[in-house]
Amino acid sequence: MRISDRVQAMQNSPIRKFNPMADAAEAAGVKIYHLNIGQPDIETPSVFWEAVKGFDQKVLAYAGSWGLPELQDAIVDYFKRFDMNLERNDVLITAGGSEALTLTFLSIINPGDEVIVAEPYYTNYLTFIQAADGVVKPVTTYAEEGYKYAIKERLEAVVTDKTKMISIVNPGNPTGCILSREDMRVIADFAKEHDLWILADEVYREFAYDGREMTSFGQLADIEDRVIIIDSVSKRFSACGARIGCMVCKNKEFMAQVFKIAMGRLCVPTLDMVGATAMYKLPADFFNSVRAEYEHRRDVAYDALMKIPGVVCQKPGGAFYITCKLPVENTEDLLLFLLNEFRENNETVMYAPAEGFYATPGLGRDELRIAYILKAEDMARGIELLGKGIEAYKAKGGK
Ligand SMILES: Cc1ncc(COP(=O)(O)O)c(C=O)c1O
Repeated sequence: MRISDRVQAMQNSPIRKFNPMADAAEAAGVKIYHLNIGQPDIETPSVFWEAVKGFDQKVLAYAGSWGLPELQDAIVDYFKRFDMNLERNDVLITAGGSEALTLTFLSIINPGDEVIVAEPYYTNYLTFIQAADGVVKPVTTYAEEGYKYAIKERLEAVVTDKTKMISIVNPGNPTGCILSREDMRVIADFAKEHDLWILADEVYREFAYDGREMTSFGQLADIEDRVIIIDSVSKRFSACGARIGCMVCKNKEFMAQVFKIAMGRLCVPTLDMVGATAMYKLPADFFNSVRAEYEHRRDVAYDALMKIPGVVCQKPGGAFYITCKLPVENTEDLLLFLLNEFRENNETVMYAPAEGFYATPGLGRDELRIAYILKAEDMARGIELLGKGIEAYKAKGGK
């Protein structure tokens, strides 16, 4: 019996692969500050629970493969805030943004086709693209340049005749980089010139700080037939366990093809769609307090990081992650030390080492990603533990 070469060539998620060690430490009574995963501690809106409790059908039946029409319509209405006029079946409901990404790559990529992705990237992109037999073509970005990648020459340097798509996460995970309107124009023109799809993952759309504008690639009318938008309730409504997302695309041919796979997987969970419908109907001002809270957490996290000698990072403009360089050679080794050995008052901290966020070999070994998803005092304590952990690691000869 043999397992596919494709799956054997894949990596374990650097966000989750250290969980067994964390579980063992927690089972032994250690408190871990989990800064490794984008799982916010903000309460899921009560309308979600009320809608689920109010569900009164006697049979929990399959839904249609597009998703509940009420949810599709609520999403169509939500996008009107961004001056987008969608039809119901421009929206396909998926099991989280993750399924929308998987279906998109499966529907666009032939074996060996290339997808341009700015690195460091949300590491699961590599998994999803490899699962579709595609190849990630990275455009390396740097903290010192504000992680900018909407630069024509740099994009031109990686495009080949196998390139099918440019994949954007805006606001960015793991860098927090936000594209300006001009940046979006550069990407749109580049995609038109090379006849590429644009995958616009905008699951962090509302998390734009310091007064930055919230945008969507769906607002650029001249590229509407080549843009596939990924959306999700996970982060926006702090409802990661609901597993509801969607893909939005005005290209009818693409949607008709994707829908073949959607029909094959039948549908997504009905009760979660009922709750998600209520959340998409929340007014736009619902986000004001949530955004202010994350902005505060970002400031606390950034200030705490700046107190650790040798840390290099850029204050992020959006999403809820900070990528930074640490004064160690390998952040995976440091993390193993933090999980297995280091304790202060029986507490330690966990983050995501960033090597798996790069396709270019050797990059990211001294970097990590922190998610600022815990309340401010916990963020401050978690990062304080990181600083103390680095000291202890070096004191016992760690590099
Ligand atoms: C950029 C980005 N896209 C998509 C996802 C997938 O989220 P979900 O499947 O929970 O919607 C995540 C999760 O962290 C993400 O950061």
